[in-house]
Amino acid sequence: MSAVVRAPHEVRFAALPPLALYAHLPWCVRKCPYCDFNSHEKSDALPEREYVDALVADLEGMLPSVWGRRVASLFIGGGTPSLFAPESIDAFLGAVRARVPLEPGAEITLEANPGTAEAGRFRGYRAAGVNRLSLGIQSFDDAQLKALGRIHSAAEARAAIEMAQAVFDNVNLDIMYGLPQQTLAEARADTRAALAFGTTHFSAYQLTLEPNTVFYRKPPPLPAHDACADMQLAVEALAAEAGFEHYETSAFARPGMRCRHNLNYWEFGDYLGLGAGAHGKLSFADHVTRHERAKQPREYMAQAGSIVEKPVSARELPFEFMLNALRLVQGVPAGRFEERTGLPRAAVARRLAAAEEKGLLEKDPARIRPTRRGRLFLNDLLQLFLA
Ligand SMILES: C[S@@+](CC[C@H](N)C(=O)[O-])C[C@H]1O[C@@H](n2cnc3c(N)ncnc32)[C@H](O)[C@@H]1O
Ligand code: SF4
Repeated sequence: MSAVVRAPHEVRFAALPPLALYAHLPWCVRKCPYCDFNSHEKSDALPEREYVDALVADLEGMLPSVWGRRVASLFIGGGTPSLFAPESIDAFLGAVRARVPLEPGAEITLEANPGTAEAGRFRGYRAAGVNRLSLGIQSFDDAQLKALGRIHSAAEARAAIEMAQAVFDNVNLDIMYGLPQQTLAEARADTRAALAFGTTHFSAYQLTLEPNTVFYRKPPPLPAHDACADMQLAVEALAAEAGFEHYETSAFARPGMRCRHNLNYWEFGDYLGLGAGAHGKLSFADHVTRHERAKQPREYMAQAGSIVEKPVSARELPFEFMLNALRLVQGVPAGRFEERTGLPRAAVARRLAAAEEKGLLEKDPARIRPTRRGRLFLNDLLQLFLA
């Protein structure tokens, strides 16, 4: 492991942060034109067995770094994890349980695409131990689904949600707004349609044009910035009316149903990322590291367990912490900064005061919490914490 930079403050953890586990399954039926996730169109049958073996070898290689620690949540994301057979998910979860202790009642989420939904599959995932299903719905408008290159129709989306709710108590629906030529009324209609299912969790993302995507090269006609801001406000109002708490930029939950796995990222917990292109962050008594893996599935499988590990310097930690924590509507308890970075509060005291003076952070001694203005101008707020 390389040397750790210790300036201007030393990293020292009184106790290590909670630990989560992420597993990336990198294949999809078809690549969506807006998507920059590490996902690859599947051509033939998936090498499920080989890939699960690679994930397990990857985990084994990481065991010395997480020895004695319990895993609080597990997230199987993608790509399209629902392309994997329940038997493969069961084999993976069994291998994880045999190697690291999971906390009792740990949240175990699997991402599913409505185009690959089958009741039998969902029951199989549940039997394997998955207790939360996240469905990528995106819209209930067939023309929009087509424009987004999705492999499912609105009717299939509805059927998938019903199937999911019959099997899982905890279901998340992802939708996107600010879609090509979308009107405010259409964004409202999509939000209402999603909320009407009464799931426990709901996420609404503004469509962004990411480099290295088809949409970036050939942008579709997107609504203006102000129209998207109105859509965001409309989504927030409808979600509140439906009894959801808005707890992170894009995330809404019924009371007690916040996504524990994602909260761990936002509260700057540790996570072990397994799979092609997955990355992770781990804390040790006196330093923090990030680790990353080969992005191409073939390359990853050929050299599972070979990871690139980099130290995170004490200088970078305040920004990294804020980048996550300030996405939370209620921010975090003030002590989280020291708990999760291992740095003294003095490392950011002046910058916190400057943000408060600018009206970007609440003057609340108990919490580090963005003001409404701070949330609207999040980049300006974060800039104050750059190394
Ligand atoms: C990790 S993705 C994968 C989910 C799953 N593969 C699917 O698409 O059904 C999680 C969510 O991020 C959102 N997302 C993906 N690309 C986006 C983009 N360019 N802009 C905004 N949201 C995006 C979508 O709502 C998606 O469901
Ligand atoms: S299904 Fe999801 S992960 Fe796959 S390409 Fe589409 S948005 Fe990306």
